[in-house]
Amino acid sequence: MEMILKRRSVREYKDEEIPSEVLMKVLEAASWAPSSKNSQPWEFIIIRDKEKLGKLANVRFWAFPIAKAPMAIAVIVDPRKSKRFLLDGACATMNLMLAARYHGLGTCWIADMNRKEVKEVLGVPEDLYVVTVTPIGYPKEFPKPTPRKPLREVVYLEKYGRNI
Ligand SMILES: Cc1cc2nc3c(=O)[nH]c(=O)nc-3n(C[C@H](O)[C@H](O)[C@H](O)COP(=O)(O)O)c2cc1C
Repeated sequence: MEMILKRRSVREYKDEEIPSEVLMKVLEAASWAPSSKNSQPWEFIIIRDKEKLGKLANVRFWAFPIAKAPMAIAVIVDPRKSKRFLLDGACATMNLMLAARYHGLGTCWIADMNRKEVKEVLGVPEDLYVVTVTPIGYPKEFPKPTPRKPLREVVYLEKYGRNI
């Protein structure tokens, strides 16, 4: 619960390397996500090359946080391995983000991207799907919490629309 509450989308990072054993822990957490029929349709690309980070960040406006971090991780899924490839990929990404937070790292789900261009930059085969490219690194600061709807607005009892 602490990690869930403390995770934030981080868009400004320190120029500080992530130790590789920490990075591997974070990726291991991603690989322990649930997936449809345990298909594990995911693969990950670690991106450290500044030129690549710059290119990925420039693909669309809201991709800018990628250029603010010392590295990024692309989460890729194979639609041939799972009918639910998007959901599986989202589960893996969420695990990754929470584990990153545990290690004091920030991340930011980037969806604002032209997937064709992203695939070109990273050499990802045409038939795979890029779920997200998240910057990852030590934050300049963790932003203030963003608001959440109160539970009474989103939780019902027994029937849609019946308040608790
Ligand atoms: C599916 C999805 C797509 C998102 N796309 C972007 C994005 O393209 N660029 C960005 O800066 N943040 C993006 N975000 C981050 C959201 O803006 C952020 O999660 C939301 O404002 C809540 O803030 P928090 O993550 O700090 O709790 C995305 C988040 C999700 C889950």
